[in-house]
Formats: sequence, C-alpha cells, structure tokens
Amino acid sequence: MDLSVLAETAAHPSPPADDPEWWRSAVIYQIYPRSFADGNGDGVGDLAGVRQHLGYLRDLGVDAIWFTPWYDSPLADGGYDVADYRRINPAFGDLAEAEALIREALELGIRTIIDIVPNHVSDRHPWFQAALAAGPGSPERERFWFRPGRGERGDELPTGWVSNFSGDTWTRTVNADGTPGEWYLHLFSQQQPDLNWNHPDVRREHEDILRFWFDRGVAGVRIDSAALLIKDPALPEVPAAPGPGEHPNQDRDELHEIYRNWRELADSYDGTRVLVGEIWLPDIDRFAKYLRPDELHTAFNFDFLARAWDAGELRASIDQTLAAHAPVGAPSTWVLSNHDVTRPVTRYGRADSSFAFAAKRSGTPTDLDLGRRRSRAAALLTAALPGSLYLYQGDELGLPEVEDLPADRIEDPMHFRSGGVDPGRDGCRVPLPWRGTASPFGFSPDSAAGEPWLPQPAAWAALTVQAQQSDPASMLWLYTQALRIRRAEPGLGDGPLSWAEAPEGVLAFARGGAFLNVTNLSAEPVALPAHAAILLSSSPLDGGMLPPDSTAWLRTQH
Ligand code: GLC
Repeated sequence: MDLSVLAETAAHPSPPADDPEWWRSAVIYQIYPRSFADGNGDGVGDLAGVRQHLGYLRDLGVDAIWFTPWYDSPLADGGYDVADYRRINPAFGDLAEAEALIREALELGIRTIIDIVPNHVSDRHPWFQAALAAGPGSPERERFWFRPGRGERGDELPTGWVSNFSGDTWTRTVNADGTPGEWYLHLFSQQQPDLNWNHPDVRREHEDILRFWFDRGVAGVRIDSAALLIKDPALPEVPAAPGPGEHPNQDRDELHEIYRNWRELADSYDGTRVLVGEIWLPDIDRFAKYLRPDELHTAFNFDFLARAWDAGELRASIDQTLAAHAPVGAPSTWVLSNHDVTRPVTRYGRADSSFAFAAKRSGTPTDLDLGRRRSRAAALLTAALPGSLYLYQGDELGLPEVEDLPADRIEDPMHFRSGGVDPGRDGCRVPLPWRGTASPFGFSPDSAAGEPWLPQPAAWAALTVQAQQSDPASMLWLYTQALRIRRAEPGLGDGPLSWAEAPEGVLAFARGGAFLNVTNLSAEPVALPAHAAILLSSSPLDGGMLPPDSTAWLRTQH
C-alpha cells in the first residue's frame, strides 16, 4: 500500500459528496474563535480549544461550523482586519492545526465554513503597506481607493460618506517628506482600507484565496460585507433616497458578476462548497437577486433578526422572506443573533425587542426572565422554519449580553468611533463558560496563566455547559432536543410551510404531513390544536394550555 497517498488524502480532506443539498437544511454553529475555548491557557480562545470541544458540537447536533476570521490579524476589528489570508493568527494556532481541525470535524460529520473578508484588508496587509510606501500615482495604490482631498489645500474629505462604524470613511496619509498626502477610503475603521474591486489583482487574489481554502476541505465561505465591494468610481455623495443600484457603495449591480465567478469556482469542487452572503439590505427583492441559481447559495436573513417579538411582525417577516426566496429557488436562513448584535435573551427582555445598530444604548431596562422565555420559544420557532439555521456560540446556553464590561477592557472599534455612545459588540463576545463555579469556568485550563480576554460574569456559574447538561429545564437541553428532532423529522429543514388557523397573537404552521409548530406571542395561555403527541415544548404546559411566550412542537397524526 502506498502510504504517501494515504497521507496526502488525510492532509486534504473533502467534505462528503453524498448529500449535495446539505446546505439547504443545515444547522450551522458560529464559532468566534477568540471566545470559544482556550487550549493553551493564555486567556484567548484558539483552535486547540475548538478541537477539544468538537464532541460537544457533535452532541449538540450541528451540521457545520462557521468560524469568524481566524487569519493573521492585528485584531483592530476582532479579525475582520486581515493581514494574511493564508496564515492562521498565531494566537489561535497554525495552518496545520486548522487542517487537522477541518479533518477531525469532518470525521464527526461536521463541515467547516470560514469567513472571507473581501471588502477590505488590514492596514498591516503587505499590499497596503506597499501602497503607502510607493506614494501617489503608483500602481500599488490602484488596488485601494486613494484620492486627493477636496478644497484648495486638499484637506477636505473626498466624499462625505459615513462609516458603518460611524464617523468618517477617509483617512489622510502622510507623504515620505512629511507633508500631508492623499486620503484612503475605509467603510469601517481606519485600520481596514477598502480594496478596489475594479482591479484585476484584487479579483485574482480572492479567487486564489477561495481555492486555497477549498483545497483544504472547507465546505463553504461566509462572505463578509458582501454587498459593499463595488464602489461608483466617480465617488458621488449618497443620494437622499437612492433608487435600486444607485447607492455609490452598496448593492451595486456589478457585484453579481463577481459572485457568478465565485460560484463557478465553488461548483468546480466536489461535495457542494457553499457561498453565504452577509447582506444587510432593506429591499428584500434586491437581496434575493444575490441568490439566483448561479450566484450565492444563501444569505443571512437579518430582517427576521431585526424584528420585535410580535406575532404580526414575525409573521410578516416569515411571509416576505419565503416569498422573496421562492422565485430564485434558494432556501431561507434563520438567524437570531451573531457576534455583531445584542444576545436574544437580552434583546427579547426589553420593551422594544427589535434590533437596530443605531439604537444600541447601555442602561436599557431588561427583564432577563422574560427574555429567556422568549428566546426558548424563538429557538423552536426558528428551528421549525424552512431552510437552514444559524446558531451563535453561547445562545445554546442562553447567555445574556454582558453590559457591564469595564471600560478599559472594551476593544470594539464601534464603541470608540461612536464616541462611547454605542456600547459596542464585546458584550456578546465574552468567553464561554464550560464548567466549574468561578471564572474562567473551564474556558481556559485550570493551570492558565492568563485571565480570559474579556471578564466573565460570576453569575455564569449557573449557565455553564456542565450545569446545563444535567438539567432538563436548561436552554442547552432544549436546543439539543430541538436539533435532534429537527434532524429526524422529515418535514423540517428545507421544504414547504403551510400556515394553520390560530388565535390572534399565535403563529401556527405545519411542516410535512404530521408536524405543527405553535408559538404563542399573545398575553394569554392558548389551547393547543388537536394532536397525537407533544414532541417538545419551550415551557411547561399549563393545564394543557400553551403559556404566553412559548412554542410547542406537535405530532399531528398517529
Ligand atoms: C461584518 C462583520 C463585522 C465586521 C464588519 C467589517 O459586518 O460581521 O463583525 O466588523 O463586517 O468587516
């Protein structure tokens, strides 16, 4: 037997090709590597920590994991400032360890999706460093958006575009002789210069990065800021009410050609490598255009995430989502949270339970018991909807947003760029509690030298994996049961949904021939429709009635 061939196969695994449609129904668990588990004891999560807990993810019942960026990065924006797309951040591990992780996960039936960040790079990336060094008019600067300033002295910003992190989108450079120089564009922080996607090097490089990771067995990519890559080269101001395709730096029509090329590349691999877009767009029909059969496979459904806990709102979002996806044949995705937004237990415990970045404030009154009830109900509701499901690490434990992080520990640029008005996103990025009664709660080994990079609340002793694994009333228990049923139930995942009659404030829908989801968002307990059995309920029934803020899964036929 030729052992070198075996070794070769082991080093570059391929996701199984037996189920080309896996992504249409998948449950995808989001790992924020800095905060999942710390294997080497420096207080920062890493790939060794993830490898130690792959069994946990298998037992939870997920089909895939999605890593937020794990590349070499100065972490000016938690890794969304990439310095080298082919190198793992040394704080997390190395390439050999990433390959081992992809392989070990596959052995447990878990595919790996990674984050691709095409809109911008780190200001430490060699291309940007070369552009700064080469000076105005150089070919190196063509890969970015360098422009002279406006006004006589060139000291006015080239445009008045507002950053997604608030504040300006241009930073002025300094010439080699110390005089003020050109400005460069950054839709996010100044450490994240935007790439010029009209430049052939930029396109070639990203296709090469995709190949690099597909060759290593990743089953798909989540595309960061997927609707922002193309800018109108004339750099006009943003119109007051831009029509479709008229915004100078969002949702430009030219983007579709890029994704068609990526799709062709992805389709050249076996085992269905998926393209998942991070697309925040108010116009759901424009959103669906990215999901045409020769473009992206799916995109995050942020409309649902942004809605308040209200039957009318959620039903409208579900209907609009399904209607917009149907013509392009793409499955919907259901997302309750991620590393950018307020944890559901906290959000749903507020008088205004909708989500908007601009509205985030510290000190908002919150009823965490109510939030927990609703999150449990929402977990079952979303797991019953057609399509794929995203689960952000820690939501399966019902972790709340941490709102009292000491000011000197906050790292998120969103906080600083808002002048401290926005609390930032670190509150949903606190290291996970695994076991024990005191921090680091098994996040780091007991012998660890470093403290967790963000402090964990003492009250998380009650929310550790260990505490919840033995408690049938826990969130972890609920999620584990739900994902087990979802996998076994033929009507769940991708496929049709039909609304059933229900009282005001109740969302009831059938999936397949014998399954009914009933979510009670009204203020009163409701009677359950006729059923043969109760498969799962997010709250104990009250004299056979489904209490407010609860979901029940029913078997409707014998
Ligand atoms: C996406 C990421 C977010 C990041 C931003 C800039 O929205 O989810 O975390 O800050 O892009 O890359």
